[in-house]
Amino acid sequence: MKSRSEKYRQVDRKFLWHPYSSHSTIRNNDFPVIVRGKGPFLYDAEGKKYFDAISSWWCCSLGHSHPRIVAAIKKQAGKLQHSILGNMSHPGAIELAEKLADLFQPKSILTRGRAGQPVPPLFSLSDGPTGLSVPTMEKETRRVFFASDGSSALEAALKIAAQYFHNIGRPERNRFVSLSNAYHGDTLGSVSAGFLPQFHRQFKPLTFPVFRAKAPFCAECGHGGTSCHARGASPDKGLSRPTCGASQVKALHDNPDPCNCECFKSMKKIIEKHSEEIAGVIVEPLCQCAAGMRMYPPAYLEKLAQLCRAHKILLIADEIAVGFGRTGKMFAFEHAGIDPDIVCLGKSLSGGYLPISATVVKENIYSTFSDRPKDNTFYHGHTFAGNPIACAAALEVLKIYKEKNIVPGAARKGRIMAGRISRLNSIEGVRNARCLGMIAAFELEGKGGAARAQSIKKYLWDRGVLVRPLGNDIYLMPPLNTPDELITDAINLLAEALDNVL
Ligand SMILES: Cc1ncc(COP(=O)(O)O)c(C=O)c1O
Repeated sequence: MKSRSEKYRQVDRKFLWHPYSSHSTIRNNDFPVIVRGKGPFLYDAEGKKYFDAISSWWCCSLGHSHPRIVAAIKKQAGKLQHSILGNMSHPGAIELAEKLADLFQPKSILTRGRAGQPVPPLFSLSDGPTGLSVPTMEKETRRVFFASDGSSALEAALKIAAQYFHNIGRPERNRFVSLSNAYHGDTLGSVSAGFLPQFHRQFKPLTFPVFRAKAPFCAECGHGGTSCHARGASPDKGLSRPTCGASQVKALHDNPDPCNCECFKSMKKIIEKHSEEIAGVIVEPLCQCAAGMRMYPPAYLEKLAQLCRAHKILLIADEIAVGFGRTGKMFAFEHAGIDPDIVCLGKSLSGGYLPISATVVKENIYSTFSDRPKDNTFYHGHTFAGNPIACAAALEVLKIYKEKNIVPGAARKGRIMAGRISRLNSIEGVRNARCLGMIAAFELEGKGGAARAQSIKKYLWDRGVLVRPLGNDIYLMPPLNTPDELITDAINLLAEALDNVL
């Protein structure tokens, strides 16, 4: 007799088109059919339990079926399920915008320079090249533009940056700089800004050109490894460092990062040569996730922020994957003490419960979008932008983060992950074990690495741990509230899999 899962799979194979899934994988594999979730676990149609070690594409930061988030969703659904934000509003979007803007207030090192000084706004009153007054704010506020998914937040960021320069009379500044191996989403603007050849090659003719700087990657530092980040994942001096304790954070801020960041050369060259054409630089702060969890040091971001400021280029931080505590701080860019002009949020914003994303913009950019004396209105938006039920979920998530100290907890759990994952480096065939907050990754050496990674995936799936390798790289990115023992058990199982499969 066919199992329930097999019955589902039969219909699935006939009608469903899966994202990022090859026909043969769907045809030839008994993939799990997930019917429910609870905490860090997912359950298939037969009741088999899986540890969601990748937080369902990195978004379920608080796991599944959290009773408080479920209750908030139900309550809001019974009150107002949708209402548009075009020339209207609703309390959920208002409160969420305020709460998100609050996360960027200059009350911590977050929005301050290294030495603790407030970071000045990018353009001061006299900077408007056409004489257009760009007001400075006493307390720098942020504006929140909502959309439904990460790619849409990115599209909005690119268009806001380009229109900003149009608004201030510098329309020739309409180009962008990004890093090689970047991934910023799958819509055409974000594919242009990112670009992973293995995914996006076919769409190249449809993209717009961007300046591409060579991406930093500490694990393969080609500059002699002067960075302590290049040395691997030892808990006290390796890549886990951004998750270190308060006294170490202070020490870090008193003593600039020891890394010389030779890898910054490529970015520097592009910015210095083309600054008059460039509207913005866009980066995934500290970790290029989709490219294979390629981590780099805060010093790189610090240099980038300084250079962008010197050339009046907007710095866009794509925090869609690394935001909301994943790296041991609310936002990854905080590790560098920088203050990006535009920040894109998504995924964990709603704890992965409903699709919602946000483009968070400095007030001095927003103010140039006035319709007087000329119409500079931002004519851009999506039907479900700031959906009330999604806002209710996001608001509850933020409350839980605060009450349960989720971010400091993630920093602590990150140190456990760093200590454990570094031990895998001693296994033959494994290299570049690395960790940043609650992202742990390693690579399987050599040509057959990707195939071996698939065998390891199968070994783990059979034993109830869901992973999804990226080429040769295997990573763990579990919910931030995963119990410590579950994390260590999963890494022990990984070690066992490596012993058995390699
Ligand atoms: C850094 C980054 N930016 C943007 C996106 C796109 O987000 P979405 O899949 O919600 O469109 C992703 C998705 O993985 C991402 O990792």
